[in-house]
Amino acid sequence: MLLKRVVTCLCCYGISYVVQAQEQPAYKNASLAVEVRVKDLLGRMSVEEKAGQLNQLSGGAFTGPALNEAGQQTKIQWVKEGKVGSMLNVIGVAETRAIQQIAVEQSRWGIPLLFGLDVIHGYKTIFPIPLAEACSFNLAQVQQNATVAAAEAAAAGIHWTFAPMCDISNDPRWGRVMEGIGEDPWYGALLSAARVKGFQGNLDEQHILACVKHFAGYGAVEAGREYNNTDMSRVALWNKYLPPYQAAVEAGAATVMNGFNVFEGVPVSASKYLVTDVLKSKWGFKGFLVSDWNSFGEMVQWGYAADGQDAVVKAINAGSMMDMESKINITYIPTLLKQGKITQQQLDDAVGRVLAVKFRLGLFEQPYKYNSTEREQRLIFSAAHRAEALKAARASVVLLKNNQQSLPLRKTGQQLAVIGHYANSKEDLFDFWAAMGESKNAVTLLDGMQQKWGSKAITYAAGYSADGNTTDALVQEAVAAARKADVLVVNVGITGKLAGEDRAVANPVIPEGQLRLLKALRATGKPLIAVVSAGRPLVLTALEPLADAIVYAWILGTETGNALADVLSGDYNPAGKTVMSFPVAVGQIPVYYNHTNTGRPLPTDDQGNWFSRYRDIPNEPLYPFGYGLSYTSFAYSNLSLQDTLPAKGKPVQVRVTVTNTGTRDGEEVVQLYIRDHSAGIVRPVKELKGFQKVLLKKGESRQLHFTLTEEDLSYYDANGDKQIEPGRFSVFVGGNSKEVLEAQFRKVE
Ligand code: BGC
Repeated sequence: MLLKRVVTCLCCYGISYVVQAQEQPAYKNASLAVEVRVKDLLGRMSVEEKAGQLNQLSGGAFTGPALNEAGQQTKIQWVKEGKVGSMLNVIGVAETRAIQQIAVEQSRWGIPLLFGLDVIHGYKTIFPIPLAEACSFNLAQVQQNATVAAAEAAAAGIHWTFAPMCDISNDPRWGRVMEGIGEDPWYGALLSAARVKGFQGNLDEQHILACVKHFAGYGAVEAGREYNNTDMSRVALWNKYLPPYQAAVEAGAATVMNGFNVFEGVPVSASKYLVTDVLKSKWGFKGFLVSDWNSFGEMVQWGYAADGQDAVVKAINAGSMMDMESKINITYIPTLLKQGKITQQQLDDAVGRVLAVKFRLGLFEQPYKYNSTEREQRLIFSAAHRAEALKAARASVVLLKNNQQSLPLRKTGQQLAVIGHYANSKEDLFDFWAAMGESKNAVTLLDGMQQKWGSKAITYAAGYSADGNTTDALVQEAVAAARKADVLVVNVGITGKLAGEDRAVANPVIPEGQLRLLKALRATGKPLIAVVSAGRPLVLTALEPLADAIVYAWILGTETGNALADVLSGDYNPAGKTVMSFPVAVGQIPVYYNHTNTGRPLPTDDQGNWFSRYRDIPNEPLYPFGYGLSYTSFAYSNLSLQDTLPAKGKPVQVRVTVTNTGTRDGEEVVQLYIRDHSAGIVRPVKELKGFQKVLLKKGESRQLHFTLTEEDLSYYDANGDKQIEPGRFSVFVGGNSKEVLEAQFRKVE
């Protein structure tokens, strides 16, 4: 069969192909520079084949709406004809290998395909969602999580993940906050860079390409509704939204994905400003761009392009490149080139970048280097990977309340009631982006607690059903279990299935049925520990008075129950700090710590009229950015600056003493914020500019040292140029963004 195809090829392409095959074309010569190989191959390819490199097709389960579904046969035919450059959602060693073989052996130039997949927080060993792992403030762990995810995916034939998502968001209504970095651009930049490094490593066959998404500003979707409008100023773009994407690009990300949103009224896939002026020119990005699922085609629905052809013209002219799934590049590029609506240079630049990545990965020499049954069996879901996932999960938990040291729970001598459908439901554990993770192999809260305390010490009752609703019978059963117990551990929140793309909710709250259950359980007078599961911060105002302790569990992945049992028992002392503010009410959204002061800030005593305030709720969130408790306590003292009038170019040295004042050893995330009191543009009331996660023994005091550089004190103007201005600055240090010590300095001319 194969032989016949080769013969057919020889017949088709005649003598010159045979002569070249003997001489070995330059592009096949691995000792030549990538640029030389790219140029040689571009010189051989037809326009259709070039358009093919900018065509990405979905080969498996859809992660977006079906679009002119071509059918498997047609897709394979296109691969043979060199009309496909990449596929997404093709899973596993065998399948990726089979399709790669067709591309390599049956297409004219044997150009390998790139296989992409959303490996967002693990491949089969599922780690905490990105938002949760961010709460660990442990960048080495975050990087390691991505490294493990990459190793598993790479063993199964995947070259490329569509991560990290670098979209800053203040809106827990948006289902995708789970995939991101929270509300702080400075920390978001560090997280994004760590994830890129973790995924890509040295780009060997144990790592995968990263994709910085969704470029740019997609996290600003209005009212948190997926695929919605975005509207922002250039100073907001530069100061709030762009830093994480930029850091990811600077960390070497090989690819970038256009978002679904608009910037200044232009769909971002067609924004020359974002794609060419900022990304390619100002940041010098050398990799390639891929659209989001049909984001070129959707320009028509936005009312920005007349039809698919017009959309391709606008995308390519802006500097965008590969199209995901809509097939409009492959359909229109040849004609558009003939008509002069796009240029040869634009096409060659885009295709050259895609080819360069394939050369760099070594796929021309070893097209199956990522398809390793041996690695697939050895690495995927290995004990070592699960151990990493457990470490990551424990570090992601945020303890929000712990009245009278209700936690940790004693390990012996008391009866526990574990209540809540989610505590015993594997189906509700995982989110939409759990890749190949199988929740049947995950550890629920009930599993983890039974393991730790022994089954006899635990009584379980569901209390509510999968949708969060309850019935009299479920409540009565739970109350009966509670009466027999000394302490109640109640798992509430929302199902993992409501986290991820296309999962916006207007009311991110604890469901009514669960509140009814909680009230009935509260009436038993037993200590009540609430464990909240959700892929976003929920409004906890109604829960707060009903619980003695609140453990925010987010979505923790494969090791959920083991991690939570370690936290609840005190075998692990929690140290996570939230990276998104928890709203007091839905109407308060967006609420975030790095807001501006306004011209009429509310006085701290909350008194008086004519201030920027709500009349029915406070301005402050329930739990601010950076907040999280430990089983020990910490005190801050002696904040001092070495110099309160630092000379131009001189950094500011900050010192502070942190003391573990409790009865256990514990970790604290010491946070440093600044405020620029008068600047060329209004600056936030606080901006995170440093943190240190330190382990302090009980009773231990330590002086910590931070350095604030001029870069830390700068901001971007509307052109994206950094400005550093003289004037008054505050420095704040504390264990969260609200409770801080303050010192001031003045920057001189
Ligand atoms: C999402 C992307 C994702 C892509 C491929 C899109 O709908 O917005 O984040 O990477 O699908 O699955």
